[in-house]
Amino acid sequence: MQQRILGQQGLVVAEIGYGTMGTAIGYGPSDDTESIGAIRRAFELGTTHFDTARMYGWGDGEKLLGAAVAPFRDEITVATKFGIEFEPGRGFVPDSSPDKIRRVVDDSLRNLDVDHIDVLYQHLPDPNVPVEEVVGVMKEYVDAGKVRYLGLSNTDAEGVRRAHSVHPISVLQAEYSIFAHESETFFPVLEELGIGLVAYSPLARGFLGGSVEPRTAYTADDFRQFIPWWAPENFAANVDIVRELTRLAQSKGATLSQLALAWLLARKDYVVPIPGSRNTNRVAQNIAASELVLTETDLDRIAELAPNGGVGGSA
Ligand SMILES: NC(=O)c1ccc[n+]([C@@H]2O[C@H](COP(=O)([O-])OP(=O)(O)OC[C@H]3O[C@@H](n4cnc5c(N)ncnc54)[C@H](OP(=O)(O)O)[C@@H]3O)[C@@H](O)[C@H]2O)c1
Repeated sequence: MQQRILGQQGLVVAEIGYGTMGTAIGYGPSDDTESIGAIRRAFELGTTHFDTARMYGWGDGEKLLGAAVAPFRDEITVATKFGIEFEPGRGFVPDSSPDKIRRVVDDSLRNLDVDHIDVLYQHLPDPNVPVEEVVGVMKEYVDAGKVRYLGLSNTDAEGVRRAHSVHPISVLQAEYSIFAHESETFFPVLEELGIGLVAYSPLARGFLGGSVEPRTAYTADDFRQFIPWWAPENFAANVDIVRELTRLAQSKGATLSQLALAWLLARKDYVVPIPGSRNTNRVAQNIAASELVLTETDLDRIAELAPNGGVGGSA
């Protein structure tokens, strides 16, 4: 698979990565054996970048990824994230207090069973802790050899600039897909500072996988019930877009998910999508998107079909 450079600090990864969120939370029940098989299949097919976070099962997702990649850990890069906690009654809350970061990162190293984390992200800005202070703590781990590269997620351009002034940021992780274009507003700051973009939810949380169901079909632990793309007033319009995108994909001998991933690869050469799938066949399908070349006519047609992304937004 083609490699891509993320940032200016030496991080190089295969152009299609793997996101592990669904192995722990978000998309209904998972089978750990199947998830481990899917992660290993991704590696066999050339993926070298694997993404997790503390909040994906509060350590369980990290443990699963660590076990799955143990046989080839030195041949890949592992990313994890701190900065979101769960408080009863309040739900998910940002927490990047310095002591908490240290406790969480030490836990992540243990959960992943690694001596270093390749990419450490702040998952979400914390309004109570200036990003300069957060990056100062992250830098302690770089200085100690326990973290290689720094990243940010779910922040704004000003947050990126402020963080980068303390220690070089290699990568921003943000939602980006044919259905979610907002991340394109980051292009100028990323290009100015030489930072890569990891595209999360590149298949629009499965909407661009082609097997989408109305929200009532999902179990209570499936996040998709709360996403506006699935709201009854938006669902049919989004299904219509997907139908036309699927026609375009088929005309090229490709699947919808391959079209969606190839579109991201065509946008900028510093974009790396991290689709998540717990199924070996779907993993293989997604990785084969690396072979799909979209023409200007294809890109124009996609822009015509989804000029503003999916109807209703993702949050
Ligand atoms: N930084 C953040 O705040 C943040 C937020 C969200 C996600 N992320 C990261 O981004 C990664 C990917 O995002 P995501 O998991 O939300 O969404 P995604 O990759 O856009 O979509 C995942 C969903 O699509 C299905 N799927 C995958 N490939 C498919 C295919 N070829 N055909 C049909 N369905 C397919 C998966 O089901 P199966 O598993 O059943 O195949 C799963 O339900 C996450 O795993 C996580 O690492 C980060």
